[in-house]
Amino acid sequence: MSTQLNDPLTRPLTKNIREDRRPTDMAAYEANDGYQSLHSTLGKRSPADCLQIIKDSNLRGRGGAGFPTGMKWSFVPMEDATPGHKYLVCNADEMEPGTFKDRWLLECDPHQLIEGMIISAYTLQADIGYIFIRSEYLLAAQLLREAIADCHAKGYLGDNILGSGFNFELHVHASAGRYICGEETALINSLEGKRANPRAKPPFPQVSGLWGRPTIVNNVETLCNIHHIVQHGAQWFQNLGIGSDAGTKLYGISGRVNKPGCWELPIGTPIRDIFALAGGMEQGYELRGFLPGGGSTDFLTPEHLDLAMDYDTIGKAGSRMGTGTMIVLDDKTCAVGFVKNLVEFFAQESCGFCTPCRDGLPWSAQVLDDIQQGRGTSEDMNTLARQIGFIGAIGNTHCALAPGAMEPLASGIQYFREDFERHLNNGHCPLCHEHNPKGK
Ligand code: NAI
Repeated sequence: MSTQLNDPLTRPLTKNIREDRRPTDMAAYEANDGYQSLHSTLGKRSPADCLQIIKDSNLRGRGGAGFPTGMKWSFVPMEDATPGHKYLVCNADEMEPGTFKDRWLLECDPHQLIEGMIISAYTLQADIGYIFIRSEYLLAAQLLREAIADCHAKGYLGDNILGSGFNFELHVHASAGRYICGEETALINSLEGKRANPRAKPPFPQVSGLWGRPTIVNNVETLCNIHHIVQHGAQWFQNLGIGSDAGTKLYGISGRVNKPGCWELPIGTPIRDIFALAGGMEQGYELRGFLPGGGSTDFLTPEHLDLAMDYDTIGKAGSRMGTGTMIVLDDKTCAVGFVKNLVEFFAQESCGFCTPCRDGLPWSAQVLDDIQQGRGTSEDMNTLARQIGFIGAIGNTHCALAPGAMEPLASGIQYFREDFERHLNNGHCPLCHEHNPKGK
C-alpha cells in the first residue's frame, strides 16, 4: 500500500489520507500542518474577517444543494438582541444512495473536520457544536469522540481556546437512522428529541434553529474546507476549481466500473475523466446512463460525458450535481428495476407528514412493481406521469424528499422508455430475469 500523501495545496481535503485508510491521529495531523489554521486564527483574526474570506471564496455547500456557504453564514445575526447559545451543526448523516464521500473524510481524518468546525464556530461565534452522524458510521463516531477528547487535552476545545477568550464545546450525536434526519430541519427536530419531521422554512435555521436559536447546519465536506480557506485565502480556493465553481470536490462512482471509488479533484473536472479514474466500465458492460449526484438526481447519458462536473453545468443538462457521487446504469440492468429500487427506498424513508409523499411514493413504487412483474398496462405509464407531475413539483410537498425521488423516475422514463415498454408489451424482461430469477 502506498503511504504517499496528497499535495496539500491542490488536494487539501485528502492530504492526510493514505491508501491504507489508516486514521490520522493528533500527532500525524499536527505533523502535517494540522491545527496551524487554528493557531493563526483564534484571537488573531476577527470573525468578520474570516466570514469575508469564506464569502469571497465562493465555497458552495457540498451536501448536495450547493447553496453559497458565506451567504448562508451571513444570515446569522451577529449582534443578538436576546443573548443565548448559537449552534453549529455538522450534517454527517450521509444516507444519499451511492454516497460515501463523507465517510472517507470522517474515518481517515477526523481532526480535519474538527479543526474546520472550530474555525467555523469562531467565525459564527457559535459556542456549541454537534456532529450529527449516521448511526451506522460506528467507526467514524468512535474516532471523532477520541479526537474530541484529544482536542480537549490540547486546549483546542472547551473554554478560552488557546487563550483567545473563545469557548466552544463539540458533541457527537448518532442519528436515529432515517434518511429524512439528514434534512436540516428534521435533523434539528431529531437533535431536540422530537420526531424527525422537516419544519416549514422560513424561518431558516440561521435565524431560528435548535431550540429557536441561530443555527448553521453544514455538510462534512463543506466544513472540512473552512480552515484551509482561512489559512490559504479565498483566491487560492477559487483557483482550485476548473470552471466557475471554486475548490476541489470529492467525486465518486459506484456500479459496474472497474474501480468504484472516491477521488478529490478540481471542481468542474469533466465527467469522462472521473470515469477514467474508475477504470471505465467492467469488461462486458456498456454505460447506458448514470445518476450524477446520488439517488435523488436525474439520469444523464453517455452523451453528457464531456460535461464539466459542476453545479451549473449539470443543472443546465437537466440534472443536479447533488453529492457528486455517481451511480452507473449498465446495459445489463433494466431501468425499471433500478428506478423501482430507488423509489421504494424513498417511500420507506418518507417521514409521512404530507400526503403526496406518504401515499404517493408507495403508490408509485407499487405501479413500478406491477410493471416489472408483468402486470402493468399503458394506463400505468399515465399514472406515473401524473405522479411525477404532482409529487415532483416543488411546493406540493412539505420538503424535497418526494420531488427528489421523482427525479430518477422521470428521467428514467425519458431516457430508457424502451425498458418500460418491454415489460408492458412482453410481460417479461430478460435483464430482470437474468439478475433476479424470482422476478423481484
Ligand atoms: P435547500 O436548497 O433547501 O437548502 C440548502 C441550504 O441552503 C440549507 O442549509 C438552507 O437553509 C439554505 N437555504 C436555501 N435557501 C435559503 C434562503 N432563501 N435563505 C436562507 N438559507 C437558504 O436544499 P436541502 O433540502 O437542504 O438539501 C437538498 C439536497 O440535499 C439535495 O440536493 C440532495 O442531493 C442532498 N442530500 C444529500 C444527502 C447526503 O447524504 N449527503 C442526503 C439527502 C439529500
